[in-house]
This record gives sequence, C-alpha cells and structure tokens, in this order.
Amino acid sequence: MTKLLVFAGSTRQHSFNRRLAHNVAEMASAAGAQVTHLELSTLDIPLYNADLEAQGTPPDVIRLKEIMDAHPAWIICSPEYNGSYTGLLKNTIDWASSPVKGHPVWANDRKPFEGKIVGLLSASNGALGGLRSLSHLNPLMQNAQCWVAPKQFALSRASEAFDDAGLLKSEAHRHSVQAVIDQVLWAAKRLA
Ligand SMILES: Cc1cc2nc3c(=O)[nH]c(=O)nc-3n(C[C@H](O)[C@H](O)[C@H](O)COP(=O)(O)O)c2cc1C
Repeated sequence: MTKLLVFAGSTRQHSFNRRLAHNVAEMASAAGAQVTHLELSTLDIPLYNADLEAQGTPPDVIRLKEIMDAHPAWIICSPEYNGSYTGLLKNTIDWASSPVKGHPVWANDRKPFEGKIVGLLSASNGALGGLRSLSHLNPLMQNAQCWVAPKQFALSRASEAFDDAGLLKSEAHRHSVQAVIDQVLWAAKRLA
C-alpha cells in the first residue's frame, strides 16, 4: 500500500483547492493508497525568519518534516496568486527544507524531499484553472529533489465544479484527477 500525502496550498474555509484535495484523498483511497490528508491550518508555522529559526525550529515544522518524510508520494493542490503559487505553500516548503542544525535526523535539508513522487493539481475560478501556479511549483519541487509526475491537471471554473457535498460533479474532471493519482501511485511503487 503506497502512503500518499495530500495537501492544499490554501487554508480558506471554502477553498477550491481544499475541496480538490478532499476529492483526491477519497479517490486515492479507493485506488488502494494509504492516504493522509493534511490541512495546513492544523500546523502552527510562522512566516520563515532565520533569526526566529535560530531560537529553535518550531515543533510543528518538525512534525511537518516527519509527515512529509513518512510518505513516499505526495499530491499538492495549488491555488494561483498573481500567476504563481501561494505564499502559504512557499512558506511551508521553505520551513520543511530548512536544515535543523545539529539535529540527528533533520540536519539534512534534503531528507523530507529527496526521492518523493509529487503530483500537482490546481484549481481556480479562472479559465486557466491556476495552471500558471503549477509552472512555478514544478521547478520548485524539482529543485527540492522531488520527482514531479508529468501528468498534471488544472481545474478551471472551479466555482461550478463541486456539488454541495464538495465532490467533483463532472466525470471528465474526475477522470483527469484520477489520471494524476494513478501516475503518482504507479511511479511511487516503481521507485519504492
Ligand atoms: C492576491 C491574489 C492573487 C490572485 N491571483 C490569481 C491569478 O493570478 N490567477 C487566478 O486564476 N486566480 C487568482 N486569484 C484568485 C484565486 O485563484 C482564488 O482566490 C482562489 O479561490 C484561491 O484558491 P482557494 O479557493 O483554494 O483558496 C488571486 C487571489 C488573490 C487573493
């Protein structure tokens, strides 16, 4: 059973990307993955500041590193802000990639990232579905030594895409999301 971590780069209550992540979690579980759906709002992580870090890495950053490290495959649902990914997502990744000096495990900054298979999705009410955020997130994840799945999906017109229960209404959308999930799980099995 592949352990898959799913999270969205938004903490907004009615976030399209949080809803998309919920769909991914359900569909990946049905496909046989052992899914952890992480809500970034459950982590108490401040804005990155090296002076703050010098006083001690926040406990939830260590928790985040542990969660990431425990999952060989991840799927990230990315909102688009100003043609890129959100500050929340960047801040989360920056903290997770920052080495903890002298720590027996986390002194290695590559540890939670290296060799992970990462699938990228986005959702926006715009016509491009947040696709431009993925074009920035892709090199960021590769720079962190992740293997980014070539199949990606950007959900456009997101305000019309979900039913009242938060599930994707269109079979075509579900098919596109499933294709990313399947490729991530396929690759994770082969790299294991
Ligand atoms: C500062 C800011 C910049 C934005 N820029 C874009 C953009 O470049 N492209 C886009 O499609 N949507 C843009 N949006 C709209 C977001 O896609 C929209 O707020 C979306 O709902 C955010 O994702 P979420 O629903 O998962 O929170 C922007 C929103 C904000 C607050």
